[in-house]
Amino acid sequence: NEQPKSIIVIFGATGDLAKRKLYPSLFHLFQKGHISEQFAVVGIGRREWSDETLRTQVRDSIKNEIEGEHTKLEEFCNQFYYKALNVTSKQSYTELKTLLDQLDSRYHIGGNRVFYMAMAPEFFGTIASYLKSEQLTDTEGWTRLVIEKPFGHDLESAETLNTEIREAFREDEIYRIDHYLGKEMVQNIQVIRFANAVFEPLWNNQHIANVQITSSERLGVEDRGGYYENSGALRDMVQNHLLQMVTLLAMDPPLRLTTEEIRSEKIKVLRALRPIVEQKVKDSFVRAQYGQGVYDGEKVQGYLKEKNVAPDSKTETFVAGKLLIDNYRWAGVPFYIRTGKRMAAKSTKIVIEFKPQPHNLYLNNGDDPGANLLVIHIQPDEGMSLMLNGKKIGTTGDTSSVNLHYSQHGIDGINTPEAYERLLFDCMIGDATNFAHWDEVNLSWTYIDAISEAWEGDKDSLPSYSSGSMGPKEAEDLLLKDGFHWWPIEKM
Ligand code: BG6
Repeated sequence: NEQPKSIIVIFGATGDLAKRKLYPSLFHLFQKGHISEQFAVVGIGRREWSDETLRTQVRDSIKNEIEGEHTKLEEFCNQFYYKALNVTSKQSYTELKTLLDQLDSRYHIGGNRVFYMAMAPEFFGTIASYLKSEQLTDTEGWTRLVIEKPFGHDLESAETLNTEIREAFREDEIYRIDHYLGKEMVQNIQVIRFANAVFEPLWNNQHIANVQITSSERLGVEDRGGYYENSGALRDMVQNHLLQMVTLLAMDPPLRLTTEEIRSEKIKVLRALRPIVEQKVKDSFVRAQYGQGVYDGEKVQGYLKEKNVAPDSKTETFVAGKLLIDNYRWAGVPFYIRTGKRMAAKSTKIVIEFKPQPHNLYLNNGDDPGANLLVIHIQPDEGMSLMLNGKKIGTTGDTSSVNLHYSQHGIDGINTPEAYERLLFDCMIGDATNFAHWDEVNLSWTYIDAISEAWEGDKDSLPSYSSGSMGPKEAEDLLLKDGFHWWPIEKM
């Protein structure tokens, strides 16, 4: 039971992510004894806050969840310090270095440092280079850089950012966050696949008809219009979270469960993705924007009416796509993905549709036997189901579908940890398995850029979908063309 000790420096300490995710996750780790008491957090922001202002923020962000943990919470908050910093001033870094050195000796941390970038990405490069030039990374322990998304806007900007941070940190010191990789059931994909003898022999184009990955949200863009206008669903969700799930589902079994072996299998999948040539984008990718609709009896406005959104914006809030993986295992098996805001449900699910049996003896007995499906429930419910066929009770041989369902919510009273909790811990123990390596980022942007470039040159108007629906008709057609349909995950 490793108990890492470290100073955690959070750039963007006054921001939303720190408040919503980082402080509560760090506290959970502290509460469970997963991090050593030899730690300190230094919050960095532009505002002139005192240590006490930061501690109040931290306390408030955690307070709602904690009962009877007052002393623990106070102990935790007292190890938070604040430093106002102008990210482009050398002097600021000299001062920060002095503070870190002091805390290091006060808490006997041994020089271990996590620098967490949870702020606007335009400064990541500048900050990294000052950390190096002002010797904040020059310690007797380890130093690591955690980078939030977006990691660039396209391949070119991602390369620029990568070059900048690589001047200060080695690849093995860089932890690029994809919070989907911290989700319990995303991590479970590889266990379901490789710890069960019944699935892996069928996990190929002989037996799988198609794979469907849906990550739908009910929320609209809320107050992130400014960011989202330059991003859209393709960059915001597909380039990272959805492609990561594709690689975990499609990769070959790694030789061992090491970071390098797993990563190398994931990278092979990205390399095998059939590139989308421009004229084919229309055949395999659909984008759309939410219009108005009704949610729980209340009327909501469409995307074009949202704050900080151009009235003629062509930013997509929904993407559906068909990906092909050109290798022995997957030749001919479409991987369909879809994601969008303001859809019918907040839900991430993966459906593996198996091919029908070679000869159907039950064709005319009652209902046609349904397809066998393996459904992996990523969120909000966590678990899996296997849809099979059985005999309809009391008939001579009619079939009816049977759902074997496993839900792991609250098993043994254990709530699954927040994605950020795991990822912060992994970073502190130096396990980069659930972070994106540069090669993955590079290949995924290459794939995505071809699609966004084709869309940029496309003068057609965007299809729209009603808020509260599962997307536009065009997304249904994408599968119908291949003789498939989306399984209604919102009802599964
Ligand atoms: C983020 C996107 O990466 O993921 C957001 O920027 C999106 O737009 C979020 O809402 C979804 O994450 P989750 O964990 O709620 O599915």
